[in-house]
Amino acid sequence: EKENLTLLLDRYKEKITRFPREKSWMGLDTYMYQGFWYISKSAFSIETTMAVQESFQAQSTDIYITTQPKCGTTWIKALVFAIVNRTKYKNINPSTHPLNIYNPHKCVPFLETEIVRKVPTYGHADSPRLFASHIPYNALPKSILDSGCRLVYMCRNPKDVLVSWFHFENKLKDRYRTQMTIGEMLDVYVKGFTPYGPYWDHVKEYHKASSEDPTKVLFLTYEDMKVDTASKLKRLAEFLGFPFTEEEVANGVVDEIVMLCSFENLKDVNKNGDFRKGIPNGSFFREGKVGGWRNYLTNEMTQILDDITMEKFQGLDISF
Ligand code: A3P
Repeated sequence: EKENLTLLLDRYKEKITRFPREKSWMGLDTYMYQGFWYISKSAFSIETTMAVQESFQAQSTDIYITTQPKCGTTWIKALVFAIVNRTKYKNINPSTHPLNIYNPHKCVPFLETEIVRKVPTYGHADSPRLFASHIPYNALPKSILDSGCRLVYMCRNPKDVLVSWFHFENKLKDRYRTQMTIGEMLDVYVKGFTPYGPYWDHVKEYHKASSEDPTKVLFLTYEDMKVDTASKLKRLAEFLGFPFTEEEVANGVVDEIVMLCSFENLKDVNKNGDFRKGIPNGSFFREGKVGGWRNYLTNEMTQILDDITMEKFQGLDISF
């Protein structure tokens, strides 16, 4: 995998030098490509985005979970996996359900990491194939956009997203990173120099796609999902083409999935070990709450973010 990533980085090395470059957080360089900023030399980078665009082939039955990092990717991966595979795991002991053993990121791979794997899971995956991606809507490979597959997008209040990023980035065990204050990270965030940023433009592209064809793109917010997870889960299952039967609802299947994918359960399952080198499983489960930003952002920081959000989302029915 490491070798493959090196080859891939080499392939795009020349091309990248021609793109506008700025400083992202943690001292990382960020490059502008097709209207968005990407870091380089990692799995979630400009190189893997270009490789996905160049060589990933979608199938019409595929399901894609799309997000900006820190918007609840891990949660929505778990929910979609549990819905789609519920018949398969119906009669097994709950303790052997994959989500009670593995990190949800193992159950639903990212396109960005699949593209660098020696033996990608997508060659021999079940149907429908489940994938996730942070790639902006208009930068997704043509085969995904043209093949009519379903996309689930989840976004989150940008203030909670920033606070979540702040903790996540500062927790990663990478000795090359410089620790940053939330004020310094805010500065980078508002300029849009974050991975797959600007945050607001990413949300707007998926929102537009969902307004144009709600049967193909489901637009969700973390906050909405939190308020009444069971009813949102039913809507999600219908959208995915796996609606719950009356019998299932009566038998408590919906509530079982809500519990299985709850923050508390997943945090407990993932309390030990590393997901990848330097990324503890636990780093994906911090607080899992709405409005935690109040403990970290000053009034001034809040105002800056609220102003941008109001301006960028003006006239759109996006609320957190
Ligand atoms: P906080 O840092 O605010 O706690 P992502 O999965 O996109 O990286 O997002 C991570 C955020 O989702 C973290 O937010 C994390 O705690 C939260 N999260 C992870 N699993 C969750 C779950 N099952 N339910 C609700 N939130 C969850």
